[in-house]
Amino acid sequence: MANAAKYRSYSQFEELLHNFYSLSQTARIYSDTHTLVTDGIEKFSIAINSCMVNESLTFKISNDQLFVDDEKLPYNRTTKNLFDNIISYFDARGLEGVRLLEAVKHASAKEILAFMRLLDSSGQKPEPLIWLINGLTVENIKWVELIRKSEILQGDWESSYKDKAERRERALRDYTYAKASIEEVAQKIKDRKREVGIRKTVRVVQDIVTNLIEDDEVYSAISTLRVFDDYTFTHSVNVAMLSMCIGRRINLSRRNLVNLGICALFHDLGKIEIPYEVLHKKDELDASELRLIEEHSLYSARLLLILKASPDSKARILVPMFEHHLKYDLSGYPRTDWKNPLTLFGKIISTADKYDTLTSSRSYRKSLLSPDRALGYMFDRAGRDFDPTIIKVFINILGVYPVGTLLKIDTGELALVVSSPSREFSKRPFVCTLEKEAHGTYKKKEIVNLDERDTETGNYVREIVETYHPSILGIQPVKYIFSS
Ligand SMILES: [Fe+2]
Ligand SMILES: [Fe+2]
Repeated sequence: MANAAKYRSYSQFEELLHNFYSLSQTARIYSDTHTLVTDGIEKFSIAINSCMVNESLTFKISNDQLFVDDEKLPYNRTTKNLFDNIISYFDARGLEGVRLLEAVKHASAKEILAFMRLLDSSGQKPEPLIWLINGLTVENIKWVELIRKSEILQGDWESSYKDKAERRERALRDYTYAKASIEEVAQKIKDRKREVGIRKTVRVVQDIVTNLIEDDEVYSAISTLRVFDDYTFTHSVNVAMLSMCIGRRINLSRRNLVNLGICALFHDLGKIEIPYEVLHKKDELDASELRLIEEHSLYSARLLLILKASPDSKARILVPMFEHHLKYDLSGYPRTDWKNPLTLFGKIISTADKYDTLTSSRSYRKSLLSPDRALGYMFDRAGRDFDPTIIKVFINILGVYPVGTLLKIDTGELALVVSSPSREFSKRPFVCTLEKEAHGTYKKKEIVNLDERDTETGNYVREIVETYHPSILGIQPVKYIFSS
């Protein structure tokens, strides 16, 4: 299969997926004889014929990526809308993908249309997959195999959660080392203000990258959970981990991931140049104090020069450090006359930085946003403050309701999100319900899947009514989620 794939190009696969998706849409709106429909069927058939070099052709989703046969298709600016649409289309039908068998080459236009209509209508049924299998049998369509979404059942989830205990411990260790290493660097700079080695930091980041490539979920969770309560350096570690998760999802090379991690870890290093009273002032800052704070990205870039790192790494991380408070439209600070768009690292770090600031109880903001609202706030500013693609990738990583979001359920229960389906349109996470104890504290009750439906009515058993930042009830989510 892999050899055969060599003879086909990504553009052919994209063409096939494009034709598939357009046909699904036009067939929904227009009649069988409309030219858009008849032309659509023809184009789809041609695309299948040119892409199918073996006895079957499979398109499926795995880890939010689209594959045709074994080829992963590149997710980029041009393909993102189409891919997001297809992923959500399959997802709504309980499908991971479809396999078209060779006989499809001889299928009539009528049969192809019947398949597309069945597939489309199944999205409106309470049990889409069962309904679809039934429909295909009735229509006698034998050239399609449905690949069902691997359903995460309650038991599976719990056992995979236990299996992950080791990874969580490893991530916690990485987190602690990363925090300690930047504390050390900051201290050395304060003491000596001359060349400071960062070998330890580089090693920690390299280890994180190795582990994160294997499983980034545990790293995005640890960063959103605020495992430690001091803000000074945890912010930098959170931003670094979230940035590396974004970098991994957009397929950055290992080397670039390490540079990105180091850059993000040190992005606020310049704050050590700002007097403590200004940095931690509770009241509103006056104009001169604000100006001082706004200088910190410049200080970070300047301090980078005294760190002992390869000139190559320094060159890559200097500008993004300077940029981390500049917005996608180049507003923000420090004010520049640049017309160049932000660097990729700059765009990634500013996204992770903003999210961590918005959800941090130590931020200067008076009202705390729940994690999902923080994401919504950022999504609304995509294209202005943030790169729209990066925001989409970020929501894909964290889910609509990030781990640690406190929820009020229509059953009257309070619950914490413990695992969020990574697809952005999925709004039904796994949660841990909480029970109030006599002293006003909460204890863990049970893990439930919000995707669960009542077998008789087909309605969801639980609906989310409201979301909160867990700190408003004094809840430390890590106690409930990250402990074994
Ligand atoms: Fe900053
Ligand atoms: Fe920051």
